[in-house]
Amino acid sequence: MIMLTNKTKKSKSTHHYWRGACLCLLAFVFSINLAFAQADSTKKDAAAAGGAGGGADLEVGKRLWEGNCTSCHAVSAEVVVGPGLKGILERRTIEWLIPWVKNSQAVIKSGDKYAVELFAKYNKSVMTSFNFKDDEIKAIFAYVDKASKEVAVIKDPPPGPPGAQTPSQSDSSGYFNLMLGILVTVLFLIFAVLLVMLSMVSKFLKQKDGDLSIEDREVVHQKFDVLSVFQSRAVLGGVALLFVLFVLKTTLDGITNIGVQQGYAPTQPIAFSHKLHAGQYEIDCGYCHTGVYKGKSATIPSANICMNCHNSIKRGSPEIQKIYKAIENNKPIEWVRIHNLPDLAYFNHAQHTNVAGLACEKCHGEIKEMEVVQQRAPLTMGWCINCHRQTVVEHAKDNKYYDRLIEAHDKYQKGSPMTVENIGGLECAKCHY
Ligand code: HEC
Ligand code: HEC
Ligand code: HEC
Ligand code: HEC
Ligand code: HEC
Ligand code: HEC
Repeated sequence: MIMLTNKTKKSKSTHHYWRGACLCLLAFVFSINLAFAQADSTKKDAAAAGGAGGGADLEVGKRLWEGNCTSCHAVSAEVVVGPGLKGILERRTIEWLIPWVKNSQAVIKSGDKYAVELFAKYNKSVMTSFNFKDDEIKAIFAYVDKASKEVAVIKDPPPGPPGAQTPSQSDSSGYFNLMLGILVTVLFLIFAVLLVMLSMVSKFLKQKDGDLSIEDREVVHQKFDVLSVFQSRAVLGGVALLFVLFVLKTTLDGITNIGVQQGYAPTQPIAFSHKLHAGQYEIDCGYCHTGVYKGKSATIPSANICMNCHNSIKRGSPEIQKIYKAIENNKPIEWVRIHNLPDLAYFNHAQHTNVAGLACEKCHGEIKEMEVVQQRAPLTMGWCINCHRQTVVEHAKDNKYYDRLIEAHDKYQKGSPMTVENIGGLECAKCHY
């Protein structure tokens, strides 16, 4: 009888430990998940609420805004014709804004101090009156509030490598890594606690040796000891090997990616779209990139080239206003450079577009589909060399120099076509100064 109670007690108490540990783990992971989910949803709520008119329809607001207001206002703080509307819901109440949009002159004539001063500040330019319903006006400002916050987010990209990641992608992968890290740490902690408990229990039982049955004694004195397993050479060696492999892999990944910016697509100062200009309107690449068939550099067009069309097209657009501003202030538009070889390498566009007759798409991808230009090729030495090995020189048929080259090549290597490699396209000095 004594033996029996002893046994059940022991198994019960270990059971308790296990259950306790499991519950702790579950509770911990759950609470972290919950905290994150809450942070996420409060973020979303804040974004969705948009300040004005709780149930205001953002879609309606967006349509009305874009159809009626963007020729004079931006959602940022920038002045177009009228003031930038960033933070408008903090400066003005919706009760003030509704009559203003309906008839701003009436508000000014009523002697409203703010309105009179604003009108004077903007040189008495008269804002158009709009015959909108109250709800529609609320919807416009809900949209403006939301959009102005998004503009602020895009303008300050998170610091870090200029990858193609959007903030939300990096957010979720950061969340994933954090969760993983926490889980691993928790598992390790639990494991350590269990080890300590195990050794305590077995010590305790060893002290009570006399009271135990023969079977129980066998269990307690079992040779299998978890600690010794961890001290064994095989396991230690395995862990060390895994660690070394891991370090090696991360460093190799790092090294091979230094300076490679495939997928780089920065936000440009003006929302210029190749899809619209080169795709839909079929403007030739060389119209803007004037050097691309003649020289080493393709060149980025100056604001004057834009003005050939935009002195009459879409004058009111806030994006086009930026071109005017650049010309007025005599400051070039600061486009962010995307493709960039290191100084040690020499690349010539004319050689490839004009002499070799290669299409831009071979190296730059489907530019005509891109709203924002993205670097598609890796631009590594291996990439240049690969193409030189594979590409047959065939374009310059009516060129005497090439005719003779191809003739000579055919004489010695009948059957295999002449590639760029055969004309010296792999010589170091061709690409390195
Ligand atoms: C023709 C140009 C023009 C259009 C179109 C226009 N506005 Fe205005 N808006 C102005 C000007 C100019 C002012 C500055 C006050 C003045 O001169 O009357 C202004 C001022 C404002 C203000 C006050 C800004 C502040 O900082 O307090 C708000 C709000 C506003 N406009 C909203 C709108 C909305 C919403 C629309 C579209 C439904 C719109 N505006 C369309 C020209 C325009
Ligand atoms: C209306 C003028 C215009 C036309 C037409 C045009 N581009 Fe561009 N291109 C620009 C401007 C402005 C930039 C700089 C802003 C940007 O990156 O979007 C640019 C940037 C580029 C870049 C990236 C430059 C860098 O920084 O590395 C490439 C590549 C490019 N264009 C290729 C093309 C190709 C290919 C075509 C024809 C299919 C073409 N462009 C047609 C104006 C033009
Ligand atoms: C050959 C004519 C031409 C040239 C050159 C040109 N554009 Fe355009 N652009 C257009 C046309 C056409 C549209 C479409 C207008 C429309 O949607 O009604 C347009 C639209 C735009 C828009 C969108 C405006 C909006 O609010 O919808 C931007 C931004 C723009 N162009 C920027 C530029 C920049 C920057 C340059 C110089 C690098 C440039 N464009 C050169 C013809 C041109
Ligand atoms: C054989 C590959 C190749 C082809 C074909 C090619 N490019 Fe490029 N392009 C490059 C490389 C490489 C760079 C980066 C050059 C540098 O950093 O010196 C570049 C850069 C550019 C730039 C940035 C400005 C500059 O000159 O550095 C523009 C714009 C551009 N290319 C436009 C074009 C257009 C338009 C065409 C087609 C008419 C074209 N490219 C065809 C490989 C190519
Ligand atoms: C899409 C294929 C392609 C890619 C990618 C490419 N090239 Fe070329 N390259 C050619 C072809 C085809 C010629 C042959 C032109 C001719 O007929 O002379 C050539 C010729 C050259 C030449 C002249 C070789 C000679 O013997 O006269 C140089 C230099 C050169 N490329 C540099 C580069 C560099 C640097 C890069 C990478 C940044 C690169 N190329 C990427 C296809 C490519
Ligand atoms: C077809 C053009 C081409 C040829 C031929 C070529 N290279 Fe390069 N090389 C490049 C380009 C482009 C880069 C820059 C790549 C980058 O930024 O990742 C480069 C980079 C390098 C670098 C620097 C690597 C680094 O990580 O910064 C070295 C060293 C180099 N090349 C040596 C050579 C030698 C040696 C040869 C002759 C056996 C040679 N290259 C032939 C195009 C070429």
